[in-house]
Amino acid sequence: MKHIEKYMLEHMNDYLKPIDTIWQPSDFLPDSSHDDFFEKVKDLQESAKGLSYDLVAVLIGDTITEEALPTYESWLATVEGVSKDEEGGWMRWLRNWTAEENRHGDLLNKYLYLSGRVNMRQMEISTQYLIADGFDIGTDRDPYRNFIYTSFQELATNISHRRVASLAKRDGDALLSKMCGVIASDEARHAKAYTDFIFQILKVDPSEVMIAFEDMMRKKIVMPAHFLREIGQKAGAAFEHFADAAQRLGVYTAVDYVEIMQDLIKDWQIESVTGLNDAGERARDYIMKLPARLTRIAERIKNPTLEYKFSWINAI
Ligand SMILES: [Fe+2]
Ligand SMILES: [Fe+2]
Repeated sequence: MKHIEKYMLEHMNDYLKPIDTIWQPSDFLPDSSHDDFFEKVKDLQESAKGLSYDLVAVLIGDTITEEALPTYESWLATVEGVSKDEEGGWMRWLRNWTAEENRHGDLLNKYLYLSGRVNMRQMEISTQYLIADGFDIGTDRDPYRNFIYTSFQELATNISHRRVASLAKRDGDALLSKMCGVIASDEARHAKAYTDFIFQILKVDPSEVMIAFEDMMRKKIVMPAHFLREIGQKAGAAFEHFADAAQRLGVYTAVDYVEIMQDLIKDWQIESVTGLNDAGERARDYIMKLPARLTRIAERIKNPTLEYKFSWINAI
């Protein structure tokens, strides 16, 4: 972490945008101090009526995932080499990354509140539960495992926000489409950052990174909202239904999981990494064979058909 801290600080401005000029949620939302506020909200609600049930469900799940940011910040602060020094480079990175991410939940939450489609109280209960439940992603305090995880996750959120953007457009909600589009582009920048950090570490500690990558793929990358629940449920009960809706809509699927893995293998040039010890070589073998195996499994997955009614969504 010390070794790549300098590199990270030099590139921080490529990965995170200046606060004064980056977009803010209010750039996209009706301004309540303007006379046309109620009219704009009416328009927003009119467009939101066209969104399919599954799309609203996925959007709420995505929003709650973004709103659980305190979990991600406090977890990253425990990673070895991050919190050693409150004023150090990694804490600076973490605070600035968190500050950028915080706009995502803020924007989506306000949109959903105005949309008229959502039982906000139920959604807020799920959000509070998710933050209280935390997550268990199997990375421990190891920086390599954590940055492999965040590389994967930022790519996954980029895909899902991008797909929601295009489905919102299809359903006639141009505003929502724009919102999810700008969020997706933040996620793409963040993905670039974390994959780059791992790429830099690979140059100096290839075997340990390879072993960490293998380990994370063996454990499978769990989604940050895997403990998602609704009122009266056990932790994780709502996550399955959220994931089903995402799979059904094609917002985030088992095939995407494999494609993200393939992207990482390519970005990190796993095939041509040199200087591996025996364990590192074995880890690479496992990694290189995994996408084909997972593709066969993904192809067999049938689209889930269960029609589940979330407490989050108002009947219209
Ligand atoms: Fe985000
Ligand atoms: Fe993100």
